[in-house]
Amino acid sequence: MDDLARRFAEFARAFEVGAPLYARIAERVSREPNVLDLMSVTPETQRVPVLLFASAHHLLLAEPSHPLAGHYPNFDRANPEGDVTDHFVDFVLSRPEPMRELLATRSTQTNEIGRCNWFLFPLAILNDEVGSLARVDIGSSAGLTLLAPHIGYDVRPGGVIASDSPLTIDCDVRGEPPLPRRAPEVAWSLGIDASPIDVRDDEEVRWLEACVWPDQVGRFARLRSAVALARVHDIRVEKGDAVDSVAGGVERARDHGHPVVTTSWVLNYLSPERRSEFVGVLDRIGGSSDLSWVIAESPKETPELPGHADSDELITVITLVTWRGGRRSVRRLATTHPHGHWVNWGA
Ligand SMILES: C[S@@+](CC[C@H](N)C(=O)[O-])C[C@H]1O[C@@H](n2cnc3c(N)ncnc32)[C@H](O)[C@@H]1O
Repeated sequence: MDDLARRFAEFARAFEVGAPLYARIAERVSREPNVLDLMSVTPETQRVPVLLFASAHHLLLAEPSHPLAGHYPNFDRANPEGDVTDHFVDFVLSRPEPMRELLATRSTQTNEIGRCNWFLFPLAILNDEVGSLARVDIGSSAGLTLLAPHIGYDVRPGGVIASDSPLTIDCDVRGEPPLPRRAPEVAWSLGIDASPIDVRDDEEVRWLEACVWPDQVGRFARLRSAVALARVHDIRVEKGDAVDSVAGGVERARDHGHPVVTTSWVLNYLSPERRSEFVGVLDRIGGSSDLSWVIAESPKETPELPGHADSDELITVITLVTWRGGRRSVRRLATTHPHGHWVNWGA
């Protein structure tokens, strides 16, 4: 319990500026043994403040008239009354069963549409080289980055790409990336995830929304637009393990175009041995037939990946790995913001 209280107190200090609402609540929770006790059902590795916040937020999204919602900037009703920390403690303690159910079974999920910026430039490079692509996205979550061919991009400086899409995301660039004239051409795509989220299931989408921090108001609107677009384009993610399923995915992709594997913030979930196995599977496939892989991961968290060995950067680095005629090439392209707001080309 002391350790958990300490995690909440540390969270409060770390996010006082960046996420003031959760920071205030975290400070209060660190002094509330009854609230901390709700997390006794949570597996040790998941016992982090954001899981408590996401669980409460999930229930609150279904009860938008509760006074707590008046303090959450993402609810339309910006009408704060009373003390937010009192409301929070009261809200979670008066819903022990649904809170415990969520705390025992869920883990936080991120699937950020802004991350399509991570794939815009590498997929354009590949389109220029090999034409239309067939993409296998590993650790796809709800599959939202599979929308990369269907959204617009406001690249600054550079201009707007695919302005007819109902959803356009901003992308601030530094350096000189090759500016595509249109959104990536992807003839076929497949998402694979150990715990896929079905965008057609309102309850699952609510969990995805619940994992967004309420201070980040802009992300909610984008997430809702992205989910609506994913339903229109029938984005589906299959259940599977990164290492065990990638070869089958690539085999299916090859019937539809040049196969491209994409991974973004998923390989950090694997053990070092499994990461090496993942690289080994792709090396084996690439040794006998052309293949590409766009990596958007942190070198510090995934040192076994191509190009990551000599770096301890925590930041997301975009790397393009290609196998052509059996030869592997590794090209570091950029560093980028965790949610894709900016891409620093050549850095
Ligand atoms: C942080 S999310 C990233 C989602 C998405 N790639 C993005 O960038 O928005 C990590 C995803 O990896 C999935 N995952 C974790 N371990 C996995 C594994 N061994 N095989 C497949 N998916 C896995 C999780 O279920 C989760 O959906």
